[in-house]
Amino acid sequence: MKPMNNRKNEHVSLAEKFAKDVRKSDFDSFRFVHHSFPEMSVADASLSTSFATLDMEFPFYINAITGGSTWTKKVNEKLALIARETGIAMATGSISAALKNPTVKDSFTIVRETNPTGKIFANLGTGQTLENAKKAIDLIQADALQIHVNSPQEIVMPEGDRDFSNWLTELEKIALNVSVPVIVKEVGFGMSRETIKQLSSIGVKTIDISGQGGTNFAQIENYRRESEKLDYLEGWGQSTVISLLEAQPFIDQVELLASGGIRNPLDIVKSLSLGARAVGISGLFLHMALREGVEATVLEVNAWKNQIASIMTLLGKKSISELTNTDIILLGEVKDWCDLRRID
Ligand code: FNR
Repeated sequence: MKPMNNRKNEHVSLAEKFAKDVRKSDFDSFRFVHHSFPEMSVADASLSTSFATLDMEFPFYINAITGGSTWTKKVNEKLALIARETGIAMATGSISAALKNPTVKDSFTIVRETNPTGKIFANLGTGQTLENAKKAIDLIQADALQIHVNSPQEIVMPEGDRDFSNWLTELEKIALNVSVPVIVKEVGFGMSRETIKQLSSIGVKTIDISGQGGTNFAQIENYRRESEKLDYLEGWGQSTVISLLEAQPFIDQVELLASGGIRNPLDIVKSLSLGARAVGISGLFLHMALREGVEATVLEVNAWKNQIASIMTLLGKKSISELTNTDIILLGEVKDWCDLRRID
């Protein structure tokens, strides 16, 4: 089932190997204050949202995972079926593999073939040319382009990039010149308010802070190293909750998306209440698709929609935007971080 002869296959296999069912998470240091009178019915809760100029029926989606090999084509087909049957959006993994080697294009185009009318995002790393960004968008008729920033992953990756001198300039060129909205995302290391300010200043409007707490690319790339292990970097980065708190000063200037370590619908609602327009899930949906199959995952995703509506009702909030006005308590290290960084 898991051919380990190619980096894309290794990433999927290792994400699976390290996936843990129950994780301690900064989401547990975030509590909603319970109030006894919701004054609404579950049927009043609307899950619709919008970002990157796209209207979405549901506030969660399958975030970037894979493509680039025969095996990952099958994985992408499963994910695309799940997206189609549930009506949630989906991002492909980095299309750079297909730009380098056209024989693996079909591992990405399968996503559009399987889900012709769904919302699909293309994905590329920073440092790509504008021409390649346009090719990636055209390949799958993408509704938006995700560009990932991943310097810790590159540093730990044995064959990774070592020169990050021009990332912001290159990002700016792409963000301002492609035909679809651009989403800049981390890959599970989170973002600081300084990063968000830099992105906003070059005209990036939609940002997925993709924080620590789930898939850990420092751990995955470290496992792939034969020598000079960098275990001490496996804790690098900010959690999803802390990254969203860091982003608060920019909440009216950029559209925030959240991802990283989402375990359940409550984590989604917590992210939405911190201002995320929608929430991406990679590791867990990959795990469900591979372990439980398409049909069971479709049932689970549909159940999550109802559970999100139920939690919104407990909070007395009828829309995703109303969720940003809830009573919350931050505990432990999350509170310490906010105190030290002077986040109110
Ligand atoms: C990823 N992720 C990712 N992100 C990206 O922008 N481009 C990519 O090609 C990939 N590839 C990839 C492969 C695999 C196997 C996984 C599990 C993840 C990162 C992903 O989109 C997300 O930012 C992080 O995984 C954090 O979310 P989770 O996995 O904790 O829900």
